Amino acid sequence: MKIVSDKTAELHKRSEKAKAMGGPERVAAQKKAGKLTARERLDALLDEDSFQELDLLRHTRASEFGLAEKDIPADGVVTGMGRVHGRNVCVFSQDFTVLGGSLGLAHAEKICKVMDLGLESGVPVIGLCDSGGARIQEGVDALGGYAEIFYRNVQASGRIPQISAILGPCAGGAVYSPAITDFIFMVKDTSHMFITGPEVIRAATGEECDFETLGGVEAHSTRSGVCHFVANSEHDCFRQIQELLEFLPQNCFDAVKPRPSGDDPNRESAVLDRIAHSDPKRPYSVHEVIRELADERSFFEVHAGFARNIVVGFIRLGGRAVGVVANNPQHLSGALNISASEKGARFVRCCDAFNIPILTLVDVPGYWPGVEQEHGGIIRKGAKLLYAYCQATVPKVTVVLKKAYGGAYDVMSSKHVRGDLNFAWPCAEIAVMGPQGAVNILFAREIRAAAKPEERRKQLVDDYTKQFSNPYLAAQRGYIDEVIEARRTRSKVANAFRFLKDKKTPRVEKKHGNIPL
Ligand code: HXC
Repeated sequence: MKIVSDKTAELHKRSEKAKAMGGPERVAAQKKAGKLTARERLDALLDEDSFQELDLLRHTRASEFGLAEKDIPADGVVTGMGRVHGRNVCVFSQDFTVLGGSLGLAHAEKICKVMDLGLESGVPVIGLCDSGGARIQEGVDALGGYAEIFYRNVQASGRIPQISAILGPCAGGAVYSPAITDFIFMVKDTSHMFITGPEVIRAATGEECDFETLGGVEAHSTRSGVCHFVANSEHDCFRQIQELLEFLPQNCFDAVKPRPSGDDPNRESAVLDRIAHSDPKRPYSVHEVIRELADERSFFEVHAGFARNIVVGFIRLGGRAVGVVANNPQHLSGALNISASEKGARFVRCCDAFNIPILTLVDVPGYWPGVEQEHGGIIRKGAKLLYAYCQATVPKVTVVLKKAYGGAYDVMSSKHVRGDLNFAWPCAEIAVMGPQGAVNILFAREIRAAAKPEERRKQLVDDYTKQFSNPYLAAQRGYIDEVIEARRTRSKVANAFRFLKDKKTPRVEKKHGNIPL
């Protein structure tokens, strides 16, 4: 028979009260807004019965603005540890039904405690965010609380994976912590992120906007690049987080566990042959190329809606997790611009931090020209991708599919920036620039002087194409290790990664580099 003493009964009473969140009315409002509660979210994300809550009974010590009289269950955030597909994680889930999920000192200290636990135990930290930002009533304590979280985000960066799901209106400080984490998820219609809301913007600048146009999924997944993953519902969001974790290690000293695959690493692909032989002027789907290379043709894309001229994401190859970076000829001809450089750089650094080898698929005509790009800082911002590749020491395998022109050839994991094994398809064109541009610069005077200028131009373009628009000059120099048949790419790349598995690059002693931010 279960004995319930008075003391145990008191524990139950206190616990139940804290678990009731903001009460039935506010919980109903949360549901009406199409959102799960903080506790339902943890149930959906974590393995069944794996959640162990900490600090359930914490409460703010602040008393100003009537806080002393207020009941603030769990201080507005549920924290603890649990498991995702059997792997340990630390979690926090902000409770919008309690003072709008706003962050006071006790709330911040609860989050800091699980972040410390995650960092010291070497496990990922997942934050489920639904918060109005700094709790106004707690003043500088709330600001200090945020800064403590930001500081920990930075200390943890590159040591353990940090994942944020934005599941409501996140304002002010509530968006800066996610910004420092590795991946941000948003849910259609219910997630919003902004530093200052529509009211403040209207008062300050006169601009008209609403939550959705200012900081909804569309704005952050396609324009600002803040959001990496879009989910159709909260359940979809948690399923995607579970999938993402499959590609990440527990911490930077760990490797992603291989997942046995029945897909033959030597599988040949007629599709890749068809793409290689297709008209160079007709863009093909680089997603199709990636899928042809991947185990079970499965590709987990990151940042799919942002800077679509570069594609990044994870595949498995021979069972091992691999990060893929690929130019996308279907968007801006695959040229690099500011957004693509930043997107690519962030992904390369993430892979490098967490020991995930990188496969780079190159088909790049160069940098996207324009005054807007130049004045927007393509020199500084474009250099980030170059910096990231030069710095990355994980195994790097590169395949030049078609074009590799100019500085973009150098940047895209060329031999010169320490690609470990560099391949090219027979149709690859590796040169300073394309035939038309080169002929116009080199032979302008000669073409003008010719009896039949257009014929002369055509002949020069043909000559240049024969001489430079191929991979063989690069192969002669050893900049391309092997020219490979397109159909055999999967086997060549899988074998390369298998060989490079234990690659070690000694680190140069220094405090840290100075990436052009
Ligand atoms: C205290 C807050 C709060 C906050 C919301 N609430 N935000 N309480 N501090 N920051 C409370 C509301 O008073 C309300 O309580 C309940 O939460 C729900 O809020 P509503 O406004 O009714 O909800 P909704 O209409 O959905 O709007 C949500 C919202 C809005 C967009 C988040 O509340 C809002 O704009 N809040 C302020 C956002 C903000 O400016 N934060 C920045 C703080 S400064 P009752 O009891 O009435 O239900 C900051 C700087 C950090 O964060 C510095 C780091 C760099």
